[in-house]
Amino acid sequence: MTAVEAHNLRKVFGELVAVDNVSFTVEEGEIFGFLGPNGAGKTTTINMLTTLIKPTAGSARVWGYDIVDEPEKVREVIGLSPQELTVDDELTGYENMMLHAALYHVPRDEARRRVKEILELLELERFANKKVESYSGGMKKRLEIGCSLIHYPKVLFLDEPTLGLDVQTRAAIWNYIRTLVREKGVTIFMTTHYMDEADNLCDRIAIIDYGRVKAIDTPSRLKSSIGGDLVELEVSEVNGPIGEKLRTLPGVVDVVLDNERAVVKVVRGEEVLPAMISVLIREGVSVRRVEMKKPSLEEVFLSLTGRKLRDENGVKEEIARRTIAIRRARA
Ligand SMILES: Nc1ncnc2c1ncn2[C@@H]1O[C@H](COP(=O)(O)OP(=O)(O)O)[C@@H](O)[C@H]1O
Ligand SMILES: [Mg+2]
Repeated sequence: MTAVEAHNLRKVFGELVAVDNVSFTVEEGEIFGFLGPNGAGKTTTINMLTTLIKPTAGSARVWGYDIVDEPEKVREVIGLSPQELTVDDELTGYENMMLHAALYHVPRDEARRRVKEILELLELERFANKKVESYSGGMKKRLEIGCSLIHYPKVLFLDEPTLGLDVQTRAAIWNYIRTLVREKGVTIFMTTHYMDEADNLCDRIAIIDYGRVKAIDTPSRLKSSIGGDLVELEVSEVNGPIGEKLRTLPGVVDVVLDNERAVVKVVRGEEVLPAMISVLIREGVSVRRVEMKKPSLEEVFLSLTGRKLRDENGVKEEIARRTIAIRRARA
């Protein structure tokens, strides 16, 4: 089953092209991420897919339903946890969940059962009867994700699920999201501007910049697409034949020998490293130290856009520039 498919989805606000002919598909059971800097068009895309706003052009289906022609159907099969928290501080966690259940017309007995189950899944049951104002940021986010699950959606949309949370809390939220996929079979469409989040959590990501999809693939393939890993070996001796032997291993792109060091560029270091070491041992070379450097998504973003993902001032300037350029083009 294809969970989400978008064809040339586009959204224009006045003169700003916020989402520019975006196409992608998300398969059932995937954690699919939109990775891009502030202003890239991530929230606008989520807002279209969740029927909050209409696209200017293009089309999309969620769980087979058209977002423009069948918005009620779409709403039945999706859950949304928006970028800004929407849980009510004055109510308890339990009350927030029951309120959501009522909004979705889940019968009361069934709602009680689901609330208990979801609060347990998100490890919030101990706090169920405490007011949300006493919750930490991470607990509030978990509760909000819980609320968005009450009608058992097929596809859950998470807009920047760990925005502003500290590193440990973010990692905990990742685990809860994985649990949801595993135990509830839900498909996740999420956005983030955190590279580590996209890398650790998402099965596949679309890198989005100024409303455009720059690349779509698994994090590991995106990283290997920029030329592979570097394995640095400190060895007892290096000579030409060793270089040749290493070069013939599958996955090895290049070998540079230097004094007591071999630097090997490989497609996927973790797969080639064992073979490299056995070759060296067979040749009677002892390996003193191994270091593997993986290119990060930051470098992928850089190679695709020429900018750093964190360069937020650059984004604002560029958007202003683009708007002016569009104005000029029209004049
Ligand atoms: N309702 C709106 N009216 C005008 N411009 C908007 C509106 N919503 C978003 N934008 C603009 O569209 C661009 C994309 O915004 P958004 O989708 O929120 O990006 P992201 O979620 O990736 O940070 C930004 O330049 C933003 O200012
Ligand atoms: Mg956003």
